[in-house]
Amino acid sequence: MLTDLSGQVAIVTGASRGVGRAIAVRFSELGASVALFGRNTDALARTAELCAEHTAVAGTWSPELSDTDALAAAVREVNEQCGRIDILVNNAGVFYPDRVDSADPFDIDRMIDVNLKGLMHATRICLPYLKESCMARGRAVLINIASNAGRFGIPGEAAYCASKHGVIGFGEGLFQEERELGLKVCALSPGWIATEMVEDCGIDMDRAIRPSEVAEMASVVARWPAGSCPTEIRLYPQRDPR
Ligand SMILES: NC(=O)c1ccc[n+]([C@@H]2O[C@H](COP(=O)([O-])OP(=O)(O)OC[C@H]3O[C@@H](n4cnc5c(N)ncnc54)[C@H](OP(=O)(O)O)[C@@H]3O)[C@@H](O)[C@H]2O)c1
Repeated sequence: MLTDLSGQVAIVTGASRGVGRAIAVRFSELGASVALFGRNTDALARTAELCAEHTAVAGTWSPELSDTDALAAAVREVNEQCGRIDILVNNAGVFYPDRVDSADPFDIDRMIDVNLKGLMHATRICLPYLKESCMARGRAVLINIASNAGRFGIPGEAAYCASKHGVIGFGEGLFQEERELGLKVCALSPGWIATEMVEDCGIDMDRAIRPSEVAEMASVVARWPAGSCPTEIRLYPQRDPR
């Protein structure tokens, strides 16, 4: 019942490690050609090697997410090279937990700039290509990696919560704007995942969600049938890692 990813072109941001790498590899296993975005070029090259074991990789690009000109140039290149963009996975993000009364203003700005504004601009820039894909083939998919912090207030994470609440609101609005065309928009909201992002947070990493489990869920969304759209998915660790 799920559709096939072969022949589809997917941009994955934050593909240099963690969840983004796992999603890129899973999409490659399923036959998609992945365009890998991230700043660490060595780590990105490693992701490309892992993906190329399954399907030819579209390439690697290293735009800073908060630089909209660099982002637009990279997306344009992907489209010129691949001729289409069917899937965008907005995964890149940063996490600087702190209480509001002690937070570094730079950290607050950075979380909004990358997690929210970067994601919105990446979407805006990719949208014409995603809509072309909708018009040519009836579907395109946008997956925003949000967080449980996008639905609840968590003490010590207020600014991160704000960025992820924004992600969910943005996606819900966009889905209503473009649903008739066939664009699927899904906020995938996990709890603790075993990645570098949270390795200093004092959680039991063995209890955290595996990046491959988030990737599996993203791959289900990307292949979801035409008649409906999973607009929000929450993924909890089975056992509490705190
Ligand atoms: N880990 C968790 O417990 C957890 C839970 C819920 C949601 N999430 C969300 O899941 C997503 C992936 O997180 P992760 O755990 O895989 O984190 P991670 O291991 O720290 O990876 C973050 C990725 O984002 C990229 N990135 C960060 N800042 C960037 C910027 N300014 N420009 C371009 N790329 C940038 C990084 O690439 P470079 O360094 O190469 O640029 C890296 O590939 C994030 O949106 C995060 O908020 C994570």
